[in-house]
Amino acid sequence: MQEAAHVLRAHGAETQKDCPTCEPFVMVIFGASGDLTKRLLVPALYNLACDGLLSENFAVLGTAMDAMTTESFRAKLSEDIKSFHTRKEFDAPAWEKLIARFHYIPGSFSDMGVFAQIKAKVAELDAQYKCGGNVLFYCAIAPRFFGTVCDNLHAAGFKDGPGWKRIIVEKPFGSDLQSARKLNAEVLAHWDESQIYRVDHYLGKETVQNLLAFRFSNGMYEPLWNKHHIDNIQFNVSEAVDVEQRGGYYDNAGVVRDMMQNHMFQMLAYLCMEVPGSFEANAIRNEKAKLLQAVRIYAPNEVARHVVRGQYGPLLNEKGEVIQPGYRQTKDVNPNSKTETYAAAKFLIDNWRWEGVPIYLRSGKALWKRGTEIVVEFKKAPKVLFRNTPVHKLGKNRLVFHIQPFQGIEMQFHAKVPGPMLQLQQVQMRFGYGDAFKASRYTGYEVMLYSCSHGDATLFSRGDLVEAAWKVAQPILDYWAKEPADFPDYARGSWGPQIATELIERDGRRWFEVITDEVLKKVALFKDGDPLFLSQVILALRPVSFAAGEMIIKKGDEGREMYVLVRGDVEVVDDAGHVVKLLQDGDFFGEIGVLMSCPRTANVRAKTACNLFVLERADFMRILRDHPQFAEGVQKVALERYNLVLQAEHMAAGK
Ligand code: BG6
Repeated sequence: MQEAAHVLRAHGAETQKDCPTCEPFVMVIFGASGDLTKRLLVPALYNLACDGLLSENFAVLGTAMDAMTTESFRAKLSEDIKSFHTRKEFDAPAWEKLIARFHYIPGSFSDMGVFAQIKAKVAELDAQYKCGGNVLFYCAIAPRFFGTVCDNLHAAGFKDGPGWKRIIVEKPFGSDLQSARKLNAEVLAHWDESQIYRVDHYLGKETVQNLLAFRFSNGMYEPLWNKHHIDNIQFNVSEAVDVEQRGGYYDNAGVVRDMMQNHMFQMLAYLCMEVPGSFEANAIRNEKAKLLQAVRIYAPNEVARHVVRGQYGPLLNEKGEVIQPGYRQTKDVNPNSKTETYAAAKFLIDNWRWEGVPIYLRSGKALWKRGTEIVVEFKKAPKVLFRNTPVHKLGKNRLVFHIQPFQGIEMQFHAKVPGPMLQLQQVQMRFGYGDAFKASRYTGYEVMLYSCSHGDATLFSRGDLVEAAWKVAQPILDYWAKEPADFPDYARGSWGPQIATELIERDGRRWFEVITDEVLKKVALFKDGDPLFLSQVILALRPVSFAAGEMIIKKGDEGREMYVLVRGDVEVVDDAGHVVKLLQDGDFFGEIGVLMSCPRTANVRAKTACNLFVLERADFMRILRDHPQFAEGVQKVALERYNLVLQAEHMAAGK
């Protein structure tokens, strides 16, 4: 049975037809009127049904406080699915067949009478759909109800009789180490660990599952996967969205609880764990647990040094009016909240494989882009061989796992630039899931429901894993609770607080920013670029930040690079110190000096803290040489701007 689930994961969705279906079961959803049910669970069941992976012997019993009937429950879900299904085309017959198996009982989780009704209904559905007594309880509810539901399921005698009984619980699994232990104890009071499936939806993502497949099915990387060859690893989860309507929950959570302790530590464990003895669930989970137990637990002074936090502020217009609220202005958020909406950390793994290799994590809300990436930076090749050649620096080789929204893997390395001289250039090889596989987009919950029905817990967290992750997070939470926070400290749409940049730059390293074509196309200069041109520009861009008031360009200096402004305000200042122009997000400057080979024509100063990309002249010229079709347009823009500058100078001189 375990093998069946592995078939699905190993071959991807293209070959799902060869897969056996889910096992027969009745699924009882606690919290059936909530967001998770409509957004993820039902669309996932629908995808399984469309792909022929749901057994004919299957039914759903939903329960929640809302006073609905089976008919109105079905009608509501039939409306919701239109917005939340993930398929290119809606398959109405498949939906009709599926929804006819949905039933509903209203009531409270603390009412034993309701549990008696649920028991009777499950028995009826089990007989009707021939599910062999298998029941999956899905707790799509707040964790404070887990204990009550477990107690009442036990008291109602659910565990008696034939078939398997399994329970899925959703995050957050605790809000700190102590509450996680309590929750574990509550659930384990009536259930065996092998019956409990703790969801971390990141483990349902194909690109996250592929971390294991990639590492252990390809012989070429394992010999390099250690402190001898890897310089550092970066995990980045940037979200462009803010906390939306979830202020009440988020203000008691923050990004360490919401993203790092669970999703990011799961990815960290997959990427860094030792080779398991087999692909069996416990073999993998044992290695994950060992890895998390090896992450160094920080003393307060180490937290202060290695972990930083931030909180986004409001977006103001030129008059200082709020256009978009800051975190503290969000509904249900304390106006003096110390909750972090951004965190960056450096961790160390104290084992033989990773001793001394810094593992950097960062995540935040209301940032400049949405993107989850894992960047493995290899040690540089020795440069000595290139002495007496035009090569004056060697970059790092990188392996980038693009988790989302772009899904793929990229390798960055050096190649010789064609021509008689020995010149090197950073190039990349990119594999995109969308190019290689034709699978429909999944919610991530399909494979988890499928695996659970087969008793395969590989994709679920385990009690000891959850606690090991909390042990690492706890000192950070404790330290921050005691220390004042100077919030807000980053602007919406920026790269996050400056201290996060300093955290890594102190070690002589940089965050590797994955820039997407979409971001670059917002810059007028590049908007018509084809994918090849854009990928060359992206490889050449280097991120820099300036504090408010800092001079970026000085008039008369040699123009060696141009800048793309990602976030912040920059002012062009004349010799008398007057501001002649304001540049904002998406603007570029410095291209005149670069393209016209003339000294800087103006002073440019950061008005607010800014995030920019720098493009060196040598790189830009080379890219334009390789893409002459864009060179003309770019030169034209630069020339127009140059002429404007000349005109202005003439006017100022009264000519
Ligand atoms: C959830 C967090 O677990 O994950 C959210 O509670 C976050 O705050 C979300 O936005 C991110 O998930 P994804 O799949 O969009 O990366």
